[in-house]
Amino acid sequence: MNQSFTALGVSQGRLAFKNPVLLASGCASFGEPFEDFFDIASVGALITKAITREPREGNASPRICETPCGMLNSIGLQNPGMEAFAQEILPQLRERGVTTIVNVAGGSEEDYEAVLTRLKDEPGISAFEVNLSCPNVEDGLIFGTSAVAFGRICERLRRVTELPLIPKLSPDAGNLVPYAKIAWGAGMDGVTVANTWSAMAIDWRSGKSKLAKPTGGLSGPALKPLTLARVAATADAVPELPILASGGAVTATDVIEFIRAGALAVELGTILFHDPTRPKKILEELPALLSEVGGESMQELRNTLSA
Ligand SMILES: Cc1cc2nc3c(=O)[nH]c(=O)nc-3n(C[C@H](O)[C@H](O)[C@H](O)COP(=O)(O)O)c2cc1C
Repeated sequence: MNQSFTALGVSQGRLAFKNPVLLASGCASFGEPFEDFFDIASVGALITKAITREPREGNASPRICETPCGMLNSIGLQNPGMEAFAQEILPQLRERGVTTIVNVAGGSEEDYEAVLTRLKDEPGISAFEVNLSCPNVEDGLIFGTSAVAFGRICERLRRVTELPLIPKLSPDAGNLVPYAKIAWGAGMDGVTVANTWSAMAIDWRSGKSKLAKPTGGLSGPALKPLTLARVAATADAVPELPILASGGAVTATDVIEFIRAGALAVELGTILFHDPTRPKKILEELPALLSEVGGESMQELRNTLSA
C-alpha cells in the first residue's frame, strides 16, 4: 500500500494510509454518493460494501430504522457479486485513483475463498477486509463468534493471497482480545474493531419489529464509547496488530480519540448518510487539532492513551 505521506499519514506493519480517515463498508457504496461532495481519492481508503460470490438482493424492507443516537440496518449484504464488481466497478475505482479495500463476505469458508481467489490478482485492490461478523444474514456470525471457526478461516484465507487481510470482528463475540490474538497468530495484517451490534427496535402499537427481520445491526454515535473501550483493550493486548476502528466515529476529535486509543485508522460509517461532506471536513480539521495538542504527526499520536 504505497501512498505519499504527510503529517496525517499513518502506518503499521503492512498497512499504510495517507490519512487515517476511511469510509466504512456499506456506508459509502462504491464511492458514487460522494461524487458531488469531495474527491474520494482524498481519503485514506474506501472500503467497499461486502462483495459475495454471487449477486445478492439483500433482505426485505423495511431494513433501516432510526434509534436514539444511532440506526439499525438489516440490509443483508446486497451487492452485485464478485464478477460484476471485478468487471464493472473496480476499473472505475482504479481510474479515479481511489485506495480501495474490498470487504468480502460469504456463508462458508469456500465462499470467502472463492471471492479472494477471483479478486486477488485484479489491479487496484490494496487489502481485503474480511467480514466475519455480519449480524444480518443467516450464519453471518458463525465465523465471528466462534474462536475455532474464526481461527480456521483466517488460516485458510491466509494461504489464498499475499494481499493484506483484515478480519472484521463482531462485538457480539464478547471479549475481542482472544480473536485479535488468533488473527495475529494466523498472519492477519490487522483487525477491524468492530462491526454493528445485533439489536432490536419494536413498534409498541403493533408489537412488531420495526425491521422486516426481528433484529438488525446497531451503528452510529451510540457505539463510540463501546468501540473506544474495545480498541484500547485490543491495542493493549496485541500492540503489533494494526486496528481499524469502526463504530461511532462522527467528528475529527473522534478520529483523534480512536488514534490515541491505539487505532491505526478510523472508519466513518453511519455519519456518511447524515452528512456526505463529513470526510472532507474532518480532513480539513485534523491538521489544526494536531497542532493544538502539540503533535507533529498523526503517527506520533497513536497509542498515547494515558490513565
Ligand atoms: C447501512 C449499512 C450497511 C452496512 N454494510 C456493511 C457491509 O456490507 N459489510 C460490513 O462489513 N459492514 C457493513 N456495515 C457496518 C459498517 O461498516 C460499520 O462497521 C458500522 O456501521 C459501525 O460504524 P458506524 O457507527 O460508524 O456506522 C454496514 C453498516 C450500515 C449502517
